[in-house]
Amino acid sequence: MPIRDVVIFPYMMTPFVVGRESSVRALEEALAGEKKIFLATQHDASVDEPRPDEIYGVGTIANIVQSLKLPDGNIKVLVEGVERAKVVSVSDDEGFFRSVVRTFSYKVESGTQLDALTSRVTSLFEQYVKLSQNLNYETMIAAIRVDEPGKLADTVGANLQLNIEEKQELLEIFDPVDRLTRVAEMLDIEIEKLNVDRSIQGRVKRQMERAQKEYYLNEKIKAIQKELGRGEKSEFDELRKKIEAAGMTKDAHEKSIAELKRLENMPPMSAESTVSRNYLDWLLAVPWKKKTKEIRDLAFAQQVLESDHYGLEKIKERILEFLAVRRLVKNPRGSILCFVGPPGVGKTSLGMSIAKATGRKFVRMSLGGVRDEAEIRGHRRTYIGALPGQIIQMMKKAGTRNPVFMLDEVDKMAMDFRGDPSAALLEVLDPEQNFMFVDHYLDVEYDLSQVFFVATANVLHTIPAALQDRMEVIRLSGYTEIEKMEIARRFLVKKQMEGTGLHPKNIEFTDDGLQALVQYYTREAGVRNLEREVGNVCRKITRKVVNASSSETPHTLPRVTVTSAVVTELLGPQKFRDLTTDKKNEVGAVIGLAWTEVGGQILTTEATTMEGRGKLSTTGKLGDVMQESAHAAMSYLRSRAHLFGLNRDFYRHLDIHVHVPEGAIPKDGPSAGITIATALVSALTGIPVRGDLAMTGEITLRGRVLPIGGLKEKLLAAHRHGITEAILPRDNEKDLPDIPENIRKEMKLHFVEGMDQVLKIALERELVALPLPQAPVELASRTPAEEKITH
Ligand SMILES: Nc1ncnc2c1ncn2[C@@H]1O[C@H](COP(=O)(O)OP(=O)(O)O)[C@@H](O)[C@H]1O
Ligand SMILES: [Mg+2]
Repeated sequence: MPIRDVVIFPYMMTPFVVGRESSVRALEEALAGEKKIFLATQHDASVDEPRPDEIYGVGTIANIVQSLKLPDGNIKVLVEGVERAKVVSVSDDEGFFRSVVRTFSYKVESGTQLDALTSRVTSLFEQYVKLSQNLNYETMIAAIRVDEPGKLADTVGANLQLNIEEKQELLEIFDPVDRLTRVAEMLDIEIEKLNVDRSIQGRVKRQMERAQKEYYLNEKIKAIQKELGRGEKSEFDELRKKIEAAGMTKDAHEKSIAELKRLENMPPMSAESTVSRNYLDWLLAVPWKKKTKEIRDLAFAQQVLESDHYGLEKIKERILEFLAVRRLVKNPRGSILCFVGPPGVGKTSLGMSIAKATGRKFVRMSLGGVRDEAEIRGHRRTYIGALPGQIIQMMKKAGTRNPVFMLDEVDKMAMDFRGDPSAALLEVLDPEQNFMFVDHYLDVEYDLSQVFFVATANVLHTIPAALQDRMEVIRLSGYTEIEKMEIARRFLVKKQMEGTGLHPKNIEFTDDGLQALVQYYTREAGVRNLEREVGNVCRKITRKVVNASSSETPHTLPRVTVTSAVVTELLGPQKFRDLTTDKKNEVGAVIGLAWTEVGGQILTTEATTMEGRGKLSTTGKLGDVMQESAHAAMSYLRSRAHLFGLNRDFYRHLDIHVHVPEGAIPKDGPSAGITIATALVSALTGIPVRGDLAMTGEITLRGRVLPIGGLKEKLLAAHRHGITEAILPRDNEKDLPDIPENIRKEMKLHFVEGMDQVLKIALERELVALPLPQAPVELASRTPAEEKITH
C-alpha cells in the first residue's frame, strides 16, 4: 500500500485513514489474511495513482492492529511497524499492488564502541526532547530505554522532526550500527537548529514583552493623566496656544513649534522629553513682547532721585543729562552708565532709583568672580543639565523686555581658560549687536536693545578697555562725616525702623548718638556699615521695647532716645578709637594716604636701619610700582646725602628696611613716594616726623613731587582719622573745588613742589647739611673698541 507524507518505521504505531480504492482493496486483502501489510512511501504526495516506480523501493512490513470502516467509505487503521523490507517485485493485476519483499537480518557485535554510540544517541536525544517543545519528555525517554541499537535508531528517527527524504534515508539503512551513527549525526544537526531557533525565539519574545510593557505603561499614564484632568492632547494644545500668544520672533516661533512636534512624538516620561520640555519652558518664559511703559518725564526722574538719595548733586545731574540724551539720541556711544566708587556709597541703590524714575523693572546680576563665558551666555543644550546664561535668566526674572539691568562689580570679572566673559559682555552691551544676542542654550536671537544697562565697579582700571569704551563713567567718592550723619538721619534710620517694625514714637536718634555711630563704630567711605549699626541699634531697642510692655501695638510702647551713651550701652565699647589723641611724633614713621577699592585709607610707612651692606628691603605686600617708588626715594636720598647731613657712603654699612603694615590692604601705585622718602630721611637722621600730619605724592629721582589721584577720597580718610594737616602735590591744587567745604576749612593743606619742602614741614627739626661733597668721580674713559666704531 503506497502511503503519502509519512514514513512508517518499525516499532512505530501509526494511525491513518485509507481512502484510495486500490489501497482499500489491499487493506481488505491483508485483513482477510495474516493482517500484515507492506507500506511504502510514494515520492510525490500529490500523485493519486502512483506507478510502482513512483514509490520508494524500501518500506516497512506492518501489523494491522485496528481497522474501522467510516460512514463515508474510508477506513481508519492503526498499524504497528514490524520490520523494514526491500521490494523485489510488484504486480497490480488484482486492482492493488502485490509485492514480493525481502528482509535482512544483521548480527550486531556488542562492544565499547557501540556502547559509546548508544549512550551518545541517548543523551543527544534527551537534549533534543528538552529543546523541542512538542515532545513529551517522560514518554520519549521511556521509549528509547532499549538495548538494541537498531530499535533505538528507529525509535529516535521516527520521533525526529525530519522531512520525508531524510526519514526515507534512515529507513533505507539496513545495518543497525550504520543507522544509529546516521541518527547521531542527524540529532547533532537538529539540536543545533533548535538552539538557534530557541535563541531567536527568546529574543523575539523579549522584544515582544518589552513592547507590550511599554504600551501597557503608556496607556496607564494616559489613563492617569486623563483621570487628573490633564489629558495629553490638551497639554500640547495648551503649549501651542502659549507659543502663539508669546509674541516670539519668527525664528523663535519656528523653533518652538518644531520642538513641540518633537515633544509630542516622544515617550512622555523619557529623559529626552524632559530636556525638550525644559527648553520649551525657557522659550516661553523669556519676555518676548512684554514691556513696561516708560516714564519720560525728567522732572519726575529728578524727584525720584532726590527723594531716594541725599547729596550726590553732581551725580544726579549727570544721570538726568544722561536720561535726556538717551531720549533724543538712539544708541549714543557710551550708552551704558557705569558707577565707580567705594562700597556703600549708593551705586546699587542709584540703579534702583533709575528704574523707578523711568518706570522700568530692575534686575541685578553680580559679575564678581564670573570667569566663564557660559555664565553669561549659557551652555549648549547638548550638555546634561544645561541652562541659559545669567543674561537670559535675569531677563526671565525681569519679565519685561526693557528693564534696568544692573551689571554689578564689572571690575571683579575674571578670565581663565574657559573663555573670556568680558568678550560676551561686550556683545551684550554693544548696541550694534545686542538686538540679536544669542544665548547658547536658547539658540535663537534675542533682542536686548530695549534694556537699560547700568554697571558698577569699585575701580576702573581692572575693567577691560574695550568695555570701558562703551560706558559713561560716573565717579562716586566717599561721604564726609557730616554727609553720613545726614544720610543716616534722613534715610537709614527710617529704613531700619521699618525693617524692625519700630514706630517713630518708639525711637529717636540724637545728633550726638548718630555722630557716635559714625565716628566710633564705623570707619568707611560709604554708609554700608553705618546702616548695619543703625539696624543693630534698632533691633536691640525693639527687643527692649517689646520686653517692657505686654501690649502688641507699637505706639503704646515706651520711647527710647538714642544718645551716644545709649549707643555705647547697646553696641558695647567703641570699635574705633579717635586717633587724634595718640598722634605722637616718631622717628621713621610717616602717615601716608592711600586710595584703595574701598575708598581712601591712611597707611603708616615705617623705615628702620640696621648694620649691613646697603641693602634696601620692602615688606607689607607692596606692589611693583610701590617698590619702585621705594628705590626711587632711596636713589634720591643717596644722591643728596650731604643735604641731610649724611656721608656720601652712609649706606655702605647699613641695611634699610621699609615696611607698610596692614597686609590685608592691597597697596600699589606711586603716590607713596614722598612718604617713603620722608620715612627714610627720618630713620637715617634720627629726626622724628610729625604725627598729626599725613602726606601723599609721587617722587622723582631729583626730588620733585608729582600729582596723584583720588585726592578727595584720601582727604576724607585723613579727616576721618582726625588728621589736621596734609602735604599734597602742587599740581593737585586744581582738585580743591571737589573737596567738601568742611574739610577745606578744618584741615591745613600744604601744596608742595619739591621734597625739600616736604621735609621742612614734616620733620620736627630742621636738617643740618654737610659741606658740599667732592665732585663726582669721572666716568671710565671709552674703551678702544668703542673708539673704533666712532671712526
Ligand atoms: N546718598 C545716599 N542717600 C541715601 N541713602 C544712601 C546714599 N548712599 C548710600 N545710601 C544707602 O546705603 C546703602 C548702601 O548702598 P549701596 O547702593 O548698596 O552701595 P554700593 O552699591 O555703592 O555698594 C543703601 O541702603 C543705600 O540706600
Ligand atoms: Mg552695590
